[in-house]
Formats: sequence, C-alpha cells, structure tokens
Amino acid sequence: SAGRNAQKETRNIAQKLDESEKSLVIFWGSQSGTAEAIANRLARECHLRFGLNCMAADLSDYDTETIALIPQTKFAIFIMSTFGEGDPSDNSAGLWEWVLKSTDIKLQNLRYMAFGLGNSNYKYYNRVIDVVAEALDKFGAQKLMPVGRADDATGTTEEDFMGWRDELFTVFRKDLHFKEHEIAYEPTLSVEEDESLDIIDLHHGEPMHPRENAKSAASCSPIKALNIVSSRELFTSSSRNCIHMELDINDHSELHYKTGDHLAVWPTNPDDEVERLLRVLGLSERRDIPVSVKSLDETVKVKVPTPTTLSALFRYYLEICAPISRDTMASLAQFAPNPATKTYLTTLATSKDAYADFLTRNYLTIGRLLEAALASDTSSPPTWPTLPLSWLLETLPHTQPRYYSISSSSAISPRTPAITALVTSTPLPSNPSQSINGVTSNYLLALSQSHRSSSSSITQPASSIYTLTNPSLALSGDSPSGHKLHAHIRKSKFKLPLSALTPLIMVAAGTGLAPFRAFISERARLAAVGKEVGPMVLFFGCRDPAEDYIYQEGLEGYVKQLEGKLRVVTAFSRVGGKKVYVQDRVREEGDEVVRLLTEEAGNFYVCGRASMAREVGKVVQGAVGRGKGWEEEEVKQWSEGVKRRGKWGEDVWG
Ligand code: 2AM
Repeated sequence: SAGRNAQKETRNIAQKLDESEKSLVIFWGSQSGTAEAIANRLARECHLRFGLNCMAADLSDYDTETIALIPQTKFAIFIMSTFGEGDPSDNSAGLWEWVLKSTDIKLQNLRYMAFGLGNSNYKYYNRVIDVVAEALDKFGAQKLMPVGRADDATGTTEEDFMGWRDELFTVFRKDLHFKEHEIAYEPTLSVEEDESLDIIDLHHGEPMHPRENAKSAASCSPIKALNIVSSRELFTSSSRNCIHMELDINDHSELHYKTGDHLAVWPTNPDDEVERLLRVLGLSERRDIPVSVKSLDETVKVKVPTPTTLSALFRYYLEICAPISRDTMASLAQFAPNPATKTYLTTLATSKDAYADFLTRNYLTIGRLLEAALASDTSSPPTWPTLPLSWLLETLPHTQPRYYSISSSSAISPRTPAITALVTSTPLPSNPSQSINGVTSNYLLALSQSHRSSSSSITQPASSIYTLTNPSLALSGDSPSGHKLHAHIRKSKFKLPLSALTPLIMVAAGTGLAPFRAFISERARLAAVGKEVGPMVLFFGCRDPAEDYIYQEGLEGYVKQLEGKLRVVTAFSRVGGKKVYVQDRVREEGDEVVRLLTEEAGNFYVCGRASMAREVGKVVQGAVGRGKGWEEEEVKQWSEGVKRRGKWGEDVWG
C-alpha cells in the first residue's frame, strides 16, 4: 500500500531501534488519531530540543513481547487513549492482551513514561493507561515519572499534554541529564512536484484503510464510495438541520451491517478552507500539479496516497479545519516570513490566556491563523512561501472518519443502511456572528441538499460549500446527483438481545434515538408477522416537539401497531420554564424501570452524549438501590454483572 516498503519490516521493536539508531520509542494507541498526532509531535520535539534520536510507533506494528528486549540504555514513552467503556484503541489490542493475560514477563530493562488520553464523563476515565502502567511496573519496568492524564471532558487535552510535556522535559534535563540544544527544522518527509507522475488516488480509497491490523480488519469493512438512495430533513426548525440519509451498499458485496453497527463517514473539507490555505501559501496555481510524498526517515511512514495533489491533500487527507494548538503555533513561528508575524504567533503561543481569548472570537483553522498572522502587520508579504509542505503533513492530523450509529434495521433494510446526523454550527462565544461548522455534518448537509435538488426542485443553500464531485471517479449512472459518500462499516457490541421476548429499556437524547429507531422497527416487524415481542420503554429527550422531535410520526405508528408493548416517555428541555431531561423521566419511572431490569431480566440501553449517559446510569443505580433495598456495594455488583452479561449497552460520544 501507499508509502510502504516492499521488503518486510521487522516487528521487533528492539531490532528496529537498533537498525534505525534511535534511543527513544514513543508508542501510540489511538482510535481517533489524537494520541497518534501527539506522539508524532512529541517525537519531533524531543529531537529538535534535545537532539534525541526518536521514533513514534504504532503499537500494532510491533510484536508486544519485543518491548522486553529494549535495552536499558534506551527508553519508551506510551501515549494511549481510553474510549467507550474503558476500552483500548484497536491498534493497542496486542499490548492490552499481553499486559492483562501474561504472568511471567520480565521488564527489568524497560525504562518508560506514560501519558493517557481520556474523558472524565465516561466511567472508566483513562483506565487504559492506568492498567498498562500498573502492569509494566508489576513486571519490573522502571517508571521515570508519574503517569500523565488528559481530560477531554473539560476540553483541556492539549493543555494537559503540554503541562505533562514540560514535566517530561524537566526529567530529561534534571534526571537524565540530557543537554538542551535547539536544532533547526529537519523534515521527515519530502513533498516534491513532478509533472510526469500519474496521480493514483484523489479520495479515500482502499489503499488507505484506517488500521491495517487483524483486529480492526475483523471489525471494519473496507472503505467504499456509496450512492445516496434518499435523504430528508428531520427537524421542523428554521435554524437547525438534522438529516436522515439512506445509502446503498448493493454494489459492494464486502459490506454488511447488523442493527446497532456504525457507519464511518470520511469527510471532505469545505471549499473556502481549502482555497484559503492554498491562497495563503501562495499555491493556488499549483494545486493540481502532481506531487510525490516520500519518507526521509525509515521510522516515519507516508500516510497519504502518493503521487497526489495539494488540492486532494487539503480537501481529503488532512484535517485543515482542526483547531491549532499553542504548541503548533510556537512551531509555526520558526517559519514566519517576517518579524511581525513571528511576534504575533509567539505572543499567542506563549500566553494561555491570550490564546483562550483568541479562541472565543476566532474560528482557528490553519489557513485562518496564517492569514491573521500576516494581517497583523502592514509590512507582511501577501503569502507564506516559507512554510514547508512537509511541516504541514507532519503536523496537521490526518483525516479520520466520524462514526454515526446506523438508524435502520438490517432485518428490514439489509442493503440500505441509514444514518441520522445533527448538523452542528456553534457560534463563537465572544463573536456570535461567526460560527464553527462541524465539518462532517455540514458535508452531509451539502450532499443531502444536492441530492434533493437533483431529484426535486426544493433546496436551500448549505451553510458551507463543498466540492462534491470526485475527479478520480467516473460517476455517470450513479446517484441521481452523481455524489458519493466514502464510508465503511464498523461492528459494534450494541445489539438487540437474542430473544424478542426480552424487555427493553432504551434511553436517548437527540440523535441518540438513531439505533433505537432500528431496534423498535425490527421488533415491530416481528410483531407484524405474528411473533410475540417483549415490552419496550423508550425514553426520548429533545428541545421542543415543535422543532426537533425526530421520527415522531414513525414512533407513534409503532406505539399504535404494538398495542401496549411500546411506551414512549418524552422529556422536553425547552418547553415551559423548567428543563426536563431524560434522566428526570427515568427517575419518575424508577419503579417500573427497576421491575423490568431486575424481575423481568430486561436489557438496558442508552445512546447519546456521555454526560447524559453518566447521569442516566446514576439515576438507574439509585432506583435499583432503593427498589431492592441494596447497599451501594450490592448495586455496584449488580451494575457490573449486567454489563458483563451484555444486558447494559452504551453507545455514547464525547
Ligand atoms: P438542552 O435544552 O439543555 O440542550 C438533545 O440534545 C436533548 O438533550 C436536548 O433536549 C438537550 O437539552 C438534552 N440534554 C443536554 N444535556 C443533557 C444532559 N446532561 N443530560 C440529559 N439531557 C441533556
């Protein structure tokens, strides 16, 4: 695949360090790409500031046992995220199994540091890094400093990391006696124009599968360009959008889904940000010239298809709308085209308060930052010819898919999975005339509107403009609009019980309703063919039934059809004076919830934001304790038991 050497690479990390003459390996375990980006950045910084020869490494690229072979003269840093219910990322499955199941590992030679990424709205906050560090210690490894943790619930992942990184560098200086000496930027990638090259791939295709290890291959399908079957607006509100979109997987025999799975959508960046970045770099004219990307360091992989073009890189492969961290600003300052822009960037980068204030009034993308820095002084040149493209490729996160819970039932629509997407647009706190538009949801909105305008005449303009046609694909005869959505399917554990008689309690806020629409329709189908189904209670929360009560008609139809088997309990947060949330309704219905869960052996499901799921969990535990007269410890055991037995499912996001 792209950028890989044909010859077989070693899976022995000690050997790799030896061969590449590195003394530090920074392992990453990453699901959404944040831990990976942090590891890459840290590797470069350790080199630039201390001259350390170091490499960032995907944990799944090496045999875990070989970590024990790293000699004492070298050391390792582990940067690992926790997601879902205390789960490790797909690419750290090997390490996870090794530390949990092994008994006789000897790690006397291993010296290490560890940093975890997590979200304290989830129950098992940073469990992965804690479990890993504890196991490494148990096996005799030497921890060189306390484990660091980042909390995404408070939005401080970056700041938490920078704080820990400063402590790390203190340990480098004081304990490890590393000398600090600033080295000039050394690219690890080359990006060269070459008109003679044939461009291989301008969009997410099969060569760029997200993770190439066995475990993820089992849980993720290949990425395919899917036709849109239909799409419609679900909100009856003039100011917000929510899209129901049905996709066609008929042409792709490798794609299958089951009710409760996720559709991973690969987004496209909006035109204005792509244009802005090309313009500010002075590269608008060169956007479609073939460029080849090569690695200049054997431990650095090329993660984009090559040969490609700058347009394709900025539109499809790099997260050019991601906020720019203070660290990245500081690094950018070295390439400033004149002293004024340098001062502008270093001032923002060195002051946490100035940076935070800037964020409240500016939508901070790389292109906008470069423009603002130039605009800060009239003597600035019009562009940044001094910014190396290699730096952009090394620094900007690579585009990651966004996961949507599939809202159709595989029993009813096996070849046309549907998704339910809230279109996000968040006004800036101190500058409400400007908003931050969610990249993927606005891309879906644009696709949806273009699809609808080609099949009917009603349309309204999307808030952002996206180039929807993919030059590398022949599109004739496809969707009526010709637009396709690049996506893959990811299996989940959020599943209906085997028996249709098992009672279900489902709790959703907003688009968290998606998988329950699938659950309920599947059971309604069974009932329609004469099968007996168990009782269901759906708790659903939204703002106002006149605005965002999605799938209301359908749900009311099922209530009627199922004759008492389905109850829908609603919580409206913006009707009348007092906010009512789903957890308030669950509390009111506590006795019934407890009865269904403990006496009728019902299953419990919650879908929506993690903060909501946490509150709901607390309310249910409280009700179970009261209803059963149990002590806290007994409730805890019950709760762990139902989770272990798959009777408590959560499909939640940050
Ligand atoms: P809001 O009026 O406060 O935004 C879908 O977003 C619904 O979930 C909205 O009604 C929203 O209420 C509600 N919501 C927001 N935060 C919540 C929380 N922590 N727990 C439960 N519901 C929440």
